[in-house]
Amino acid sequence: MAAEIIDGKAIAAGLRERIGRETSAFVEQTGVTPHLAAVLVGDDPASAVYVRNKQRACEKAGIKSTLHRLDAATSQSELLLLVTRLNEDSDVHGILVQLPLPSQIDETAVLDAVSPLKDVDCFHPENVGLLSQGRPRFQPCTPAGCQHLLAESAVQTEGAHVVVLGRSEIVGKPMALLMVQKGKAANATVSICHSRTRDLPNVTRQADILIAALGRPEFVTGEMVKDGVVVIDVGINRTEDGKLVGDVEFTSVAAKASAITPVPGGVGPMTIAMLLQNTLTAARLQTSG
Ligand code: GUN
Repeated sequence: MAAEIIDGKAIAAGLRERIGRETSAFVEQTGVTPHLAAVLVGDDPASAVYVRNKQRACEKAGIKSTLHRLDAATSQSELLLLVTRLNEDSDVHGILVQLPLPSQIDETAVLDAVSPLKDVDCFHPENVGLLSQGRPRFQPCTPAGCQHLLAESAVQTEGAHVVVLGRSEIVGKPMALLMVQKGKAANATVSICHSRTRDLPNVTRQADILIAALGRPEFVTGEMVKDGVVVIDVGINRTEDGKLVGDVEFTSVAAKASAITPVPGGVGPMTIAMLLQNTLTAARLQTSG
């Protein structure tokens, strides 16, 4: 069976176009331009690329973006001061603190300090709580992007066994929450697997939909999946020879899958589109009338 390649680039482009139209209608109605403030601490090259891509996407959608670049030696209190200033700035609707942060900074303390109404990453405990109760304020960007890919590819999720590999706060846990919820592209039976899961291949072979987000290059192989599985690969890993690969060994898994996302061009573009959506939502929440 030749697997359908789920084209995240094209699906994200459609979504960004819609968000661009909604943004211009919002600006026309309110006179307010949605504004994302991105904070980048240090000079990790991959983070710098991610932030630049997010800013470019904002511009194309008519969303204002500003970048706050801080030195790698920035202290936690300096960063918290900037977050407080952005929280209080009524011109700023969304705040994104790019992760990872340098080791002298307590990531949780910083993410908890972001105003829940400006938390476009959906990392704040208040927003994670709302999400877990099935009444999200913001969408967790990468998981919502994966769910949107499933919806756009008309994958049947209702009653399906979704196996999520990885239990991170950014992807694995919120991914499982989205898929188990009542609603469109959800209503699934969900298993979350991690490094302590016993006999992992036995669990992954039961997956109707496998979502790999464990950060290990080409970890999932063809023997670990059943025929007809739908595979969403969240991983982005650079090999020693500079090639980008996912958490899934593409060739052997695609030979058995009914549909699969490529790396790059699968989940990555969706994360950015969801960030734009959340920034528009944040502007709506903070704009009266
Ligand atoms: N670093 C890797 N992924 C993300 C993300 O989704 N948001 C932020 N803020 N940092 C990241």
